[in-house]
Formats: sequence, structure tokens, C-alpha cells
Amino acid sequence: MKLKSATEFVPGKVITLSTELAKPSPFYFGFDIEHEFVNVLDSYSFDKIFFFTEPHLFELYGKELYHKIAEKYPCFLEFVPNGEACKYFPVLEHTCEDLITKGVSKKSLLLAFGGGTVGNIVGLAAGLIYRGIGYIEVPTSMTGQTDSTLSNKQAVNGKTGKNHFGVYHSPIFIWSDTKYLKTEPPVSKRSGIIEGIKNGFISDASFLDYLDTVLNPQLKFSDEQLYDLAYQIILSKLEILKQDPSEKHYGIVLEYGHTFGHAIEWLEKGKMSHGEAVSFGMKIAAELAYELGCISHEDVDLHYYMIEEKLGFNRPLPQHITTKQLMNAMIADNKKTGEDIRFVILEKIGKCHNPEGDFLVTVDLNLVEKIVDQFIASQQYSHRISA
Ligand SMILES: NC(=O)c1ccc[n+]([C@@H]2O[C@H](COP(=O)([O-])OP(=O)(O)OC[C@H]3O[C@@H](n4cnc5c(N)ncnc54)[C@H](O)[C@@H]3O)[C@@H](O)[C@H]2O)c1
Repeated sequence: MKLKSATEFVPGKVITLSTELAKPSPFYFGFDIEHEFVNVLDSYSFDKIFFFTEPHLFELYGKELYHKIAEKYPCFLEFVPNGEACKYFPVLEHTCEDLITKGVSKKSLLLAFGGGTVGNIVGLAAGLIYRGIGYIEVPTSMTGQTDSTLSNKQAVNGKTGKNHFGVYHSPIFIWSDTKYLKTEPPVSKRSGIIEGIKNGFISDASFLDYLDTVLNPQLKFSDEQLYDLAYQIILSKLEILKQDPSEKHYGIVLEYGHTFGHAIEWLEKGKMSHGEAVSFGMKIAAELAYELGCISHEDVDLHYYMIEEKLGFNRPLPQHITTKQLMNAMIADNKKTGEDIRFVILEKIGKCHNPEGDFLVTVDLNLVEKIVDQFIASQQYSHRISA
């Protein structure tokens, strides 16, 4: 073996190496592609697979894929609780300990068949067991196919907020079959599409033109339209991730509407989807950007048009949410950054404000409170006229 020449020995001098760890995952995408799955799996080396899903997803589609795998490889079926209920420590602990009892090894693979929640709990378990074993994501929801699988962020919720505990752990591959999206509940499908609308607002105005032509509030799509919609939303997020896979610098713009959204989602205690909460958050963020003189009234209206008229997220904010609660929830959620509450602010449609080289902008909290107050008053008015 040829040794690299040693670096010069200078006590006190720091030299910089790199772990060279950036690791993108193959992302297989198509419509009705199940028959190809085992061919792809054949190229990986493993001893057994633990196939995780929710009972109703197993009945709908999982069964077929599970049997295809089990015909050729040792494959064990595991169920997790439906939806967000699986993203808690007791489920994580049970999942990890159960796998150890059942003989999971460093060569085993976990497979997550389901929405973003199944992907998150299984991805986190895979990241923890023996300090990280392989896993495969088979997302069945719009959020899973176009958003959560592209981030490598695995997490469970804490007692005071969402996704407080987690790791970055990338799947060995992602298998995205848009056939599954047909039966996804409307609110869940809208929750995935809203992030695509967000991507248009923050980075590509022309993407909003495309969404305007394809979206409809009844979510009526042909197989081909649904395939294309998922594909285009994936590309819209990848365009942003290409510039900053860490989501810490430019990629932070993906948090548009999320400062308000996370607080609303938390106040709703599981009764509102992440995407619907973000849809409210984007509307408030638009009102804030208008107040700051960054965008026009027409730009604010475009938010309401895309979110309410085109996507069908059109119910008012639940009446019990008050300005004080929302402000307090934002302050509590913000503990994780250890900084002021900051916001992604639009400069124009398709571009975010970046004063002093930072896409997270500090805004006077009195002004934020005023905007939240006005927004909540407008929502109360909508409740009154729809009563
Ligand atoms: N890691 C990330 O960067 C990231 C990004 C976005 C969202 N997330 C997380 O993802 C979760 C939301 O994901 P989600 O919207 O997929 O929620 P989900 O997993 O709860 O799925 C929503 C509902 O749809 C059902 N469902 C899923 N696919 C279906 C199908 N094909 N047919 C019928 N029903 C189906 C599920 O059973 C569930 O009841 C949240 O916990 C969020 O924190 C993570």
C-alpha cells in the first residue's frame, strides 16, 4: 500500500480534513412499479428485512409488496400505530427493543411502507439500532413522496413540541410509486401539495403557474396528472436542496410559513395536519411580508387564491386559537434555536428576503402580534358569516 506523505508536524497548527460524508440516496419513481422492486433489492446485501406499515396500508397495498419480498428473502411484518400516534418515545422504544428480541442484526434492513410518520419512526429506529442500520423508504403519501423522504430527517415528538428528538439518517433507497397516492385521504394529499405551493412562492414563480393549471379543490386527478404533480413537486424541492442539502443556509427557505404553522399545529394537538397548519402559516407570513413593505397586496391575494381556491384548504382557523396562545406557542417552539423568533419573509413571488446574508429574519414581535391579531379577527369573521 502506498502511504500518503505525512503532513508537516507543527505543534499548535490546525489542519483541516473532511469526513466526506455527503450521501444522497437513490430515489426510484414511477407509476405501478412494484414488479421491479425485488430486482432493485437484489443488488443490496442483507440478512433479513423487517417490513413496517400500518394495518390498513398493508391491506390496501403493502400485502402485495410484502409477499413479493417474502417469496425470496426472510421478511418479517411489523405494525406501527396509525399516523402521528406512532411518533412518540414509547413506540420508538418498543420498536427498537422488539427488533432486538426478534434478532435484528447489523446486516438487517428496515422497510418503512407508509406516510411520513411511518418513515420517521422507522428511519429513527434504523438510525439508532447498533448506531445505524440500513433502511428503505416506500412512501405512500404525497408528503412522503415529495417532501419527508428528501430530507433524511428522522424524529419523534416531545412533550412540548413536534420533532424534538431525532437524527439525520438516509435510506439506502427510496421507492416512490404514485399508484398509492390515489387512495390517500384528501386532507393528507393537500398537506403534501401545500409544500409544493410553498416551493413556488419561495423559489420559482413559474411553478405556481404550473400548479394553477393542474390543481383543483376537489383533488380530481388522472393517474398521469397525479404522477406528474408528484414528480414536479419533487423537482421543485430538489432544486432548493441542490443549492443547500443541509437545509441550514439557503435551504432554510423551506421553512416558509412554518414558524406560525408549527405553533398552530401544536395548539391543535393532532387535530390538524402539518400541511394545513403550514397553509395558515403561509397566509400569516404573507400578511407580515406585506406589512413590512416587501410584497404587494396582489401577492398576498395570490396566497389565498392558491391555498383556498385551488387547493381547497379553505376552512377558517379554529375559533379557540387566540393571539396570545399562538405567540406563546411560537416562543416555546423557538427554544430549539436558542435565538429570537425569526421568519422566512418573501421579497417577491419566487424569492425570499435575505438581509445581511440570512434567510431567517428577525421581526419586531409587536408587529408580529399585530398581524396575528388581525389574521385571527378575519378568521373569526369568516366563522360568523359561515355560521
Ligand atoms: N423529515 C422531514 O423532513 C419531514 C418533512 C415533512 C413531513 N414530515 C413528517 O411527516 C409526517 C406527515 O406525513 P404524512 O402527511 O404522510 O402523514 P401520515 O403518515 O400520518 O399519513 C397521513 C394519513 O394518510 C394515511 N395514508 C398514507 N398513505 C395512504 C394511502 N396511499 N392510502 C390511504 N391512506 C394513506 C395514513 O394512514 C395516515 O392516516 C409528520 O409527522 C411530519 O412531521 C417530516
